Amino acid sequence: MGVEVVETAARCRALLDGARAARRTVGLVPTMGALHAGHVSLLARARAECDVVAVSIFVNPLQFGDPEDIAHYPRTLERDLVVCADEGADVVFAPPVPEMYPSWPEVPATAVTVRGVSEVWEGASRPGHFDGVATVVAKLFSIAGPCRAYFGEKDFQQLAVVRRLAADLMLPVEVVGCPTVREADGLALSSRNVRLSPEERRAAAVLWRALSAAQATVSTGLCSGSALAQVMRDAMALEPLVRLDYAGAVDADSLAEVDMVSDPSSVRLLIAAVVGPVRLIDNAPALAETELSERGRPVRHLERIG
Ligand code: PAJ
Repeated sequence: MGVEVVETAARCRALLDGARAARRTVGLVPTMGALHAGHVSLLARARAECDVVAVSIFVNPLQFGDPEDIAHYPRTLERDLVVCADEGADVVFAPPVPEMYPSWPEVPATAVTVRGVSEVWEGASRPGHFDGVATVVAKLFSIAGPCRAYFGEKDFQQLAVVRRLAADLMLPVEVVGCPTVREADGLALSSRNVRLSPEERRAAAVLWRALSAAQATVSTGLCSGSALAQVMRDAMALEPLVRLDYAGAVDADSLAEVDMVSDPSSVRLLIAAVVGPVRLIDNAPALAETELSERGRPVRHLERIG
């Protein structure tokens, strides 16, 4: 059984309806292609948990503000199809733009806005971006039908937006968040990393160093959100090639900035910066995963320092 590549929504829907009619569960992995080990980790998780795995590959023009960014977005469809086949995907949905947006370049009349969680951080820096993401993801969920859908924590705010979208619109989709895959120096894998010069690539690891410095601060005791943001800003300032956009400690569900980190398991550290031609984002739990699991329930953290 090879992978079936389909370009129309109708064909994709028919295949996945057929799978469900045969009592098989469906896993969906939405991507914009240029697949790397981060995407592969989502595919592997879907493969392990679902009977039929569908990958969508669509560089969604609605979520790009900057025409330069979409013009430079890497497109490697032939290679991506090999990766999907190697990883055991059953269906690749790779629609041309007019299939998803028949009126393009006129924007679609119906769009999805997820208020609140879309408006802060990335949303504030990239107006309209999450409307574009929410709209295309709603369409993909509509085409795929009842399924589990796999998203990376790498795009933590996107994951929050998608969870909210699925809940608010009562879509029959279980959203599954998957851990970030990183390079040896901590840089999160991203399709945009290929645009970094060797010097910029080295500098880009400072995002992970900043997140780690904030985690180390949390592990020494109770601290304020603003102190953590300062720790991250200070770490970022050590790297002149990198321009910080934002750094913050937020509630993992609402993404609102926290005053005090009393329960580290509910706090996420967010960071965004520009390196050369590329905007990079990253995030981490307030305590390193290993420490969170070693400490067990967060109350023990408070007892230790209290
Ligand atoms: P894209 O950037 O291609 O990412 C597809 C999925 O891979 C997203 O869920 C993203 O969070 C995940 N991912 C990317 N890098 C990762 C890494 N280093 N580790 C783990 N997961 C990683 O995100 C999008 O496409 C689009 O916005 C999309 C959701 C497809 C809507 O157009």
